[in-house]
Amino acid sequence: MGAVTTRVSSFGRVNTTFYTLLKFLDEKDGKNLEVCDFGCLDGLHTIPFLKKGYIVDAFDMNEIYLYGGHIQLPIVYEDGQVTLQRRTMYGAEDRINIEKLHDKVRLYNKNIFECCNRQYDVVYSKRGLSREEYSHIPMKRKIEKLKSLVKEDGIMYLEYLMWLDDKNTDNLNSNQFIKQCEMQTYFNEGWEILSLVEDRNCIVESPHIGNPEFHKHRVGMIKVRKEKNYKKEHFNINIKV
Ligand SMILES: C[S@@+](CC[C@H](N)C(=O)[O-])C[C@H]1O[C@@H](n2cnc3c(N)ncnc32)[C@H](O)[C@@H]1O
Repeated sequence: MGAVTTRVSSFGRVNTTFYTLLKFLDEKDGKNLEVCDFGCLDGLHTIPFLKKGYIVDAFDMNEIYLYGGHIQLPIVYEDGQVTLQRRTMYGAEDRINIEKLHDKVRLYNKNIFECCNRQYDVVYSKRGLSREEYSHIPMKRKIEKLKSLVKEDGIMYLEYLMWLDDKNTDNLNSNQFIKQCEMQTYFNEGWEILSLVEDRNCIVESPHIGNPEFHKHRVGMIKVRKEKNYKKEHFNINIKV
């Protein structure tokens, strides 16, 4: 039984949108940024942040993603059939050690909504808002928590899953999925929206770890900056799950 990957993440490659974000951060602030990478998987984005010289706190609820272990890896054949193979996966910790980048990172196998009261120059999350366990927590509350983690003049970048069809919302939970034009309403006051892109239609995603079937997603991305003199009482939010 071979290991899945060492240097390459088991979640694929970093996309160009992420590199655009890195370039933006580089031009904005230069070095020594403190980053919160929430839903960090096996360090997919943590490692490029560390390579930039940033200091990273990386959170993921999934122990195997952080520390490695056995997973069911979907293998897709040419005819579209999918089978699952049991493999060993390197976690974020191994991958960061291989790259000798461990000095500037702290890994937390914790739910970010219940912990973390520090503030960061950058809060980054790729699709970390939709976990079913937190579907009873109002979306607004989860986003308020994330907003509280951003320093004044700091940046938050969220990629989020949207309702597949805004008109047919029967089977989806509004605390897990975002409607078209909803996300911007959470950043009305004290925030500058630097970019906002939302898919109009669904895209089909190939099977991946954690979702072994071809599936549909509709995705949004927002990049915001917290204005200076943001109200201090927004700091220190803890959500009891
Ligand atoms: C849905 S996955 C995103 C990865 C997906 N395969 C992709 O690239 O689009 C989100 C990750 O965030 C983590 N996560 C979700 N909610 C979290 C929370 N409240 N605290 C810490 N990690 C969380 C999950 O464990 C998961 O690894």
